[in-house]
Amino acid sequence: MEEISEIKEYAKEHSVPIMMDDGIEFICNYIRENNVQTVLELGTAIGYSAMRFANIRDDIFVSTIEIDIERYQQAVRNIHDNNLMDRITIYLGNALSYTFKEKFDLIFIDAAKSQYINYFEKYKNNLTENGVIISDNLFFHGMVENINLTHNYSTIKLIRKLRKYIDFLKSNQEFETTFYTLGDGISVSKRHHPNSANNKGETFL
Ligand SMILES: C[S@@+](CC[C@H](N)C(=O)[O-])C[C@H]1O[C@@H](n2cnc3c(N)ncnc32)[C@H](O)[C@@H]1O
Repeated sequence: MEEISEIKEYAKEHSVPIMMDDGIEFICNYIRENNVQTVLELGTAIGYSAMRFANIRDDIFVSTIEIDIERYQQAVRNIHDNNLMDRITIYLGNALSYTFKEKFDLIFIDAAKSQYINYFEKYKNNLTENGVIISDNLFFHGMVENINLTHNYSTIKLIRKLRKYIDFLKSNQEFETTFYTLGDGISVSKRHHPNSANNKGETFL
C-alpha cells in the first residue's frame, strides 16, 4: 500500500476506525496555524492520522503508540512505504503503561475511549508550555448526546465514561477546553493561564 488514499480505503474495507475527514482537517489546520512541531498520538491504528500530520511539513515529528500488534505492523509497513520512518516513530504497547520522557506541542488522544481521563492525567505532564491535548470521538456517533441510540450494554458503559470525560474537562481547574462539533466531536485543552478569560468555546452537550 502506498498512497494515503489507499490506506483510507483499506481502513474502510477492514473496519479499522480512523479519523473522519473534517476531524483530521481540523487537527491538520491546528498544526499549520500553531506551528506545531512535535505530536504524540495515542492510538496509531494503521498510521493514517500520523501520516497526515507528518505530511503537513517536513519539520514535524510524530510519536505514536498502538497496542494491537497487527495494526502496529501494518502501520510500520505503511509508514515505511511512504518514506516517513525518519519522522514518525511508532511504539508497540499500552499507552497507559508506557512512559515518554519527551514533551510534545500536541498530544492527540485517540485510543480506548473508556480510558480518556487516565490518558489525560498521565500525559498532561508531557506537554510543552503552550501545548494542547486534543481528543476525538466525544460524540461517539451521536450516542453521547442520545444514549437511547444503543441498547448494547458495553456501548452504554462506554458512553457514560465519555460523558464523565466531558464533565472532567468542563470542570478542570488546570486546563481550559474548547469543544468542537466536528467529525465525531473534538476537544482542544490548553493549560489555563491565570490571566486569560475562561473560554469554553462551542458546547454541544
Ligand atoms: C480510533 S483508532 C486510531 C485511529 C488513528 N488515530 C487514525 O485516525 O488513523 C484507536 C486505536 O487505539 C488503539 N488502542 C486502544 N487502546 C490503546 C492503548 N491503551 N494503548 C495504545 N493503543 C490503544 C486501538 O487498537 C486502535 O487501533
